[in-house]
Amino acid sequence: MKKFLFVWIALLIGLSALYATRTTVPLEQGWKFTRNDDPKASDVVYDDSNWQTVRIPHDWAIYGPFSKENDIHRMAIVQDGQTTAIEHYGRTGGLPFTGVGWYRNTFSIPGHSEGRRVIIQFDGAMSNARVFVNGKEAGYWPNGYNTFYFDITGLVHNDGQDNLLAVRLENFEEQSRWYPGAGLYRNVHIITTNEAYIPVWGTYVTTPEVNQKFARVNVKTKVVTSGEGNYRLVTEINDASSRVVASDEALLTPYDLGEISRDLFVEDPLLWDIRQPNMYRVVSKLYKDGVLMDEYSTPFGIRTIEIVADGGFILNGRKVKFQGVCLHHDLGPLGAAVNEAAIRRQIRIMQDMGVNAIRTSHNMPAPEYVRIADEMGMMLMVETFDEWAIPKVKNGYNRYFNEWAEKDIVNVIHHYRNNPSVVMWCIGNEVEEQSNKQGARVARFLQDICHREDPTRPVTNGMDRPDHVFSNHMAAIMDVPGFNYRSFRYQEAYERLPQQLVLGSETTSALSSRGVYKFPVERRSMAMYDDHQASSYDVEHAAWSNLPEDDFIQHDDLSYTMGEFIWTGFDYLGEPTPYYSAWPSHSSLFGAVDLAGIPKDRFYLYRSHWNKEEGTLHILPHWNWEGREGEVTPVFVYTNHPSAELFINGKSQGKRTKDLSVPLEGSYTEEAQKNFARQKRYRLMWMDTRYEPGTVKVVAYDEHGNAVAEKEIRTAGEPHGLVLEADRTIINADGKDLAFITVSVVDKDGNPCPNVNELVRFNVKGAGSYRAGANGDPTSLDLFHLPQMYLFNGKLVAVVESTEKPGTITLEATAKGLRKASINIQTK
Ligand code: GAL
Repeated sequence: MKKFLFVWIALLIGLSALYATRTTVPLEQGWKFTRNDDPKASDVVYDDSNWQTVRIPHDWAIYGPFSKENDIHRMAIVQDGQTTAIEHYGRTGGLPFTGVGWYRNTFSIPGHSEGRRVIIQFDGAMSNARVFVNGKEAGYWPNGYNTFYFDITGLVHNDGQDNLLAVRLENFEEQSRWYPGAGLYRNVHIITTNEAYIPVWGTYVTTPEVNQKFARVNVKTKVVTSGEGNYRLVTEINDASSRVVASDEALLTPYDLGEISRDLFVEDPLLWDIRQPNMYRVVSKLYKDGVLMDEYSTPFGIRTIEIVADGGFILNGRKVKFQGVCLHHDLGPLGAAVNEAAIRRQIRIMQDMGVNAIRTSHNMPAPEYVRIADEMGMMLMVETFDEWAIPKVKNGYNRYFNEWAEKDIVNVIHHYRNNPSVVMWCIGNEVEEQSNKQGARVARFLQDICHREDPTRPVTNGMDRPDHVFSNHMAAIMDVPGFNYRSFRYQEAYERLPQQLVLGSETTSALSSRGVYKFPVERRSMAMYDDHQASSYDVEHAAWSNLPEDDFIQHDDLSYTMGEFIWTGFDYLGEPTPYYSAWPSHSSLFGAVDLAGIPKDRFYLYRSHWNKEEGTLHILPHWNWEGREGEVTPVFVYTNHPSAELFINGKSQGKRTKDLSVPLEGSYTEEAQKNFARQKRYRLMWMDTRYEPGTVKVVAYDEHGNAVAEKEIRTAGEPHGLVLEADRTIINADGKDLAFITVSVVDKDGNPCPNVNELVRFNVKGAGSYRAGANGDPTSLDLFHLPQMYLFNGKLVAVVESTEKPGTITLEATAKGLRKASINIQTK
């Protein structure tokens, strides 16, 4: 019976391929993988039976182990102010990503016959991909972040025979300034079409006129024909419920030169906007002599963007300031391996913070990321490079820039120019060419490519050397001058540059570790401590940067500033500034959210300022300071309300009100910085409170003095038990969906215990498996994938993954001396 079913399914697939217009099959399963570099590994006849079996997306380096010996950078990081070379450990995460990895798989194309075309598309492969099909090289793509594809029609077998696919990847030492990941960490697809077809990224959809009554949608469609015949292109626009809202027919003429451009009209359009992800879809049908040859689908959105001198960024006719975050591509304990559930969770957490835009620093994002941003209403600034031709790191993109920059930009723009979430291109980050006489020419060359491929979006460049880019004109030639840090020079930039605009393309770089507080509470630059952490009082920052409020005030008081992209939303693997040489330290301390996805205090500072929909009332620090009785222990409150009164054990500590009179001018002197002048405008601070165990309560007041909210935290008693809380309790039974479960320790009354660092062991039963865990501690050498991890200040996050069989996943957590806990996740 089973065999019969199998044959029947195979037959069906075969028939559908034979008559299908196009097929797209992801190649996720069945991969073999090795770290041995054997040149024969691309041969068709080759014994890979002792290679590891893996599923992609797969990041070979995330399984560790961590070591300071991995990718030591012996150099001075000049942009960080270093003048002599030192040894940098953990700059790329302390993970074993360098070297060669081989992947092999087989695929067959049932019913494949002469006349059909076959494309293989890689969403991104880290890095220097060499792709072989049936023993012959299909192509090479060095950039590890970009999507690329090869036409492999001439290399595949007909009629459903197995084709051998082999991919060799190679990462070099000193190729990155952060953890790049390793391997086939994004998806691979086999696409087949007829001989007449619409090529990869063959449509370009723009909305040149949008008003309340209608949107004019221009659709340019590339068409590849096969021999003589009459070609007709039918274009339809579907709304979100698949209703056809506009349609058009055109005959291909020799004058079209293989590209048909048509205007369609959508009446009463629903606009795509921030958190209003109204999407449409263009369906393009290509007919030859009346027979359907290809059907191609393009999701898009209807919205307008404009850059206006002195006005800033205008979305759908409304001025919007970027409340943005920079994010690297890694997903914490999952490494670089792309995963939809992890991306959705990341964007959800950022939206809760009030974030409206993400800068994909410093590279091309995964297609899943852009699609999900479309679907969740998150704007993206898509970046291409951290380096042009002049190196920052020895084996960085400088090795490829001259030959590949144009190809890389063309691919990323063709790939994402229909996505409404993408609102700006960014061609570089703090490139060395800033200090080069010819720097503006290179910027111009790259910006021109962007304009040629997509005239609808502005182009920026993250520049951190104002003097150099004023004098070599690099800043003046950009559509949008983007400045990294030094916001105290925005006014000068505005006066000197022709655009009458300033974007904070990268800002802040504040430092903190979740749940760590340092005394006395003082503003510090590059502070280092024996525990390799930073204070969560949010008073510490990198030498080239400042505190969050030093940027808030610029964007609030200067009308021509376009908003900012803070460094960073989440912590990421690598770049443990300022602990360059202080091992262990493998991940950043810059995030408003830690590597596990748990908000730090700073998250609530941003939320109180950025999230206008929801109230914020957050107290710090925790109130378990055994040994600090009677000592000065300041209390800070982050709230959207203008004032609040603080009580310790019922005793008022006074009322504080945000000081809105703090001006931009004069509030950044050394003295003012020391006195937290600008902070007083945005946070409420009680600097002289003394610790005594008990309760800390805060009552918030509105402008009229009415008490509108309150919050209380308590000194926790003895740690009693574990508590588990999942971000989602129902997930898909698709073998890749994830639930993120936060593990906390509480006392017998349920108060969180902020100082527990016990080992927690996990056991997973039922319809899933343990995928990974993280505790947000940059010094932890616990391996992410093992089902055990030390708590960091009373918390960690465990991740479970579904199987393809629906059922219940049970995660059980145990720790010495604590009541164990378990949680059920349903998979459907
Ligand atoms: C910037 C750079 C980022 C990161 C950051 C840390 O200069 O663009 O990639 O290194 O500093 O503060």
